[in-house]
Amino acid sequence: MLIPSVMLIASLMGAATAPAQTVAQDAPHAFTISPDYRFTEKSGEALYNATCAGCHMPDGKGAQGAGHYPALADNPAVEAAPYVIVNVLHGRRGMPSFGDAMSDDQVAAVVNYTRTHFGNRFAGSVTPSQVKSLR
Ligand code: HEC
Repeated sequence: MLIPSVMLIASLMGAATAPAQTVAQDAPHAFTISPDYRFTEKSGEALYNATCAGCHMPDGKGAQGAGHYPALADNPAVEAAPYVIVNVLHGRRGMPSFGDAMSDDQVAAVVNYTRTHFGNRFAGSVTPSQVKSLR
């Protein structure tokens, strides 16, 4: 995973030299979270678009290029709510962690959005306290 490690280095360097910022663009690679950044979006949709969409694409279908960004649409792994929460909180290999940049409410909102959009209809809404217990 060449691109994600480059991003990690870029984000560490950015912390020292640039003001806190988030960049989520069409291309999966353009994503940086400074350690002191806090997302202000509240709804799952707004959070998804500000964060996840940059890699997993606005339609949740993922991307395949320099790295592999799995689809969140039609992906049985997304049914397991705690698994999705843990990915968002702690990251997973090429995926950055959002635990420091999002509150429990925000993580719950974006996980619920992911599990109920893009054709996903998984039952069982996650709660902020469930998120808290997985930090
Ligand atoms: C910088 C790119 C990037 C961003 C932003 C990102 N992800 Fe990921 N995500 C990945 C990559 C890469 C993987 C695959 C990790 C691995 O297993 O190697 C992944 C894996 C996942 C998985 C596991 C999929 C599976 O099949 O096991 C879930 C669920 C997930 N991401 C949800 C999210 C959500 C929700 C967000 C927004 C809060 C998000 N991701 C933001 C890159 C990203």
